[in-house]
Amino acid sequence: MVLAPAHRRTNAATRVAQQLGSDKRFKILEAHIKKFQQRHDALIEVLHKAQELFGFLDDNVLQFVSDELRLPTSRVYGVATFYHYFKLKPQGLHTCVVCLGTACYVKGANKLLAAVEGRTGISAGETTPDDKVSLLTARCIGACGIAPAVVYDGKVAPKQTPEDALRHLNEWI
Ligand code: FES
Repeated sequence: MVLAPAHRRTNAATRVAQQLGSDKRFKILEAHIKKFQQRHDALIEVLHKAQELFGFLDDNVLQFVSDELRLPTSRVYGVATFYHYFKLKPQGLHTCVVCLGTACYVKGANKLLAAVEGRTGISAGETTPDDKVSLLTARCIGACGIAPAVVYDGKVAPKQTPEDALRHLNEWI
């Protein structure tokens, strides 16, 4: 993968670079950015993709986008905070992201999502009234080999069943 030269990287970007090996979503985002040949006017499109992958845009993701698009961090934060569509953090204490990409879908991700929606009483994109759980969906998080995958509080869990998902939720709720 191509990262900005070390001398250009901020501490945050270095931290993100260290995380890359363990989180394939950054690789997918990087490939997406490459498709646009690092064009600055692709920023909004790239942020859309990032939110689709991560569910929300935290500091590490915004720093990564800034670094890869070679745009000032202030510009990336400026755009991300200007549009209501972009979420800078999940509203809930816990976050459950169900992948609905093709590989996960054919292995029952829709049943997983239905189980989570049934247990929490909310739909994808919503947060429980007590702010405990935010439920999000993504389109392929780069873990197709272990589909269906769910990301619980940032950790990718492999081969999930509705029972697995409910077990996680019961720890939170
Ligand atoms: S489709 Fe779910 S990880 Fe790729």
